[in-house]
Amino acid sequence: MDKTILVSGGAGFIGSHVTVELIEAGYGVVVADNMSNCDMTCFEGVKKITGRDDIPFVKMDFCDAAAVDRLFSDYRIDAVIHFAAYKAVGESVAQPVKYYKNNLSSFLNVLESASAHGGCNVLFSSSATVYGEPDTLPVTETSPRQPATSPYGNTKQICEDILRDTVKATAGSEGEIKGIALRYFNPIGAHPSGLIGELPRGVPNNLVPFITQTAIGKRECLSIFGNDYPTPDGTCQRDYIDIVDLAKAHVCAVSRMLDGDMEEDYEIFNIGTGRPVSVLELVNAFEKVNGLKLNYRFAPRREGDVTAIWADPAEANKKMGWKAERTVEETLAAAWAWEKHIAGQE
Ligand code: WQD
Repeated sequence: MDKTILVSGGAGFIGSHVTVELIEAGYGVVVADNMSNCDMTCFEGVKKITGRDDIPFVKMDFCDAAAVDRLFSDYRIDAVIHFAAYKAVGESVAQPVKYYKNNLSSFLNVLESASAHGGCNVLFSSSATVYGEPDTLPVTETSPRQPATSPYGNTKQICEDILRDTVKATAGSEGEIKGIALRYFNPIGAHPSGLIGELPRGVPNNLVPFITQTAIGKRECLSIFGNDYPTPDGTCQRDYIDIVDLAKAHVCAVSRMLDGDMEEDYEIFNIGTGRPVSVLELVNAFEKVNGLKLNYRFAPRREGDVTAIWADPAEANKKMGWKAERTVEETLAAAWAWEKHIAGQE
């Protein structure tokens, strides 16, 4: 189909899964990453899964405006999927300048160059964090955004706004930008090949890597943060979305942009399953599907956690023809296979 997609941050967890799906759908891909939060493990895995040794890879920092511009000169880019960003909520509270500087300037550079090089389709990797603690569940794309509780969350809101405003300002011009923001719920799991997955540095903040690291013995015990929430079993509820399902949503969104199927020049889609799962349910499902017992204890609530959030994915289902397919059990089996793969046990 002869279309080239630039994947910024393409060597990371989500970027590597998206790269696989794009290639399998027949797209040309350029992967660019500064490798600040990953190594080459996943990119090497992408090459193995796709059987392609020739995927263009550029090591570069998206905060470097000249480097970004060079990329647009060197390749004819039909769409950009922008992942390159810092993503640790706690660190963003401690180091807001680092987060605002990196996450905003990298995106501004992409938009500036994309527009200067004749316009482009831009897919922004956003987050359900923009909804904060929702008043009604499930959340739809028109549910109000809440003031961000961390600089990380705020950069997601600001980048959404930057994209919306840029789309509006460039409409009909030579440097026209069309945009889609995908609001991810909680991406988990790994590729069924066991060759790519999440590689958290240090102690994981997110639940599933903490579970798999506890199961393999890297961590002693999982702390379940809070069992006195107003939910059926007292633990928080989230919408855990399989990473391969999530990656496929990007292919649908890119096709929608490239095939001229957008109804508006700037669109937003929730990417979730529509199914709430509590922390305890997730732990139980992990134990059951993988046939093991996890060492866990209840601990105090974690500051900043919302009680419950899950998506209404109807818009993405209807307009993009995308639907989450894998069960939480399949996803947790893949997460466990990946943990064993990186531990060198399989
Ligand atoms: C899920 C649930 C915890 C760890 C965050 C970001 C969001 C997005 C995804 C990322 C919560 C509980 C966790 C642990 C636990 N961005 N938990 N013990 O907080 O929903 O979302 O990650 O790039 O913006 O905020 O995900 O996986 O951290 O937590 O009990 O050791 O698991 O309290 O209820 P969260 P999470």
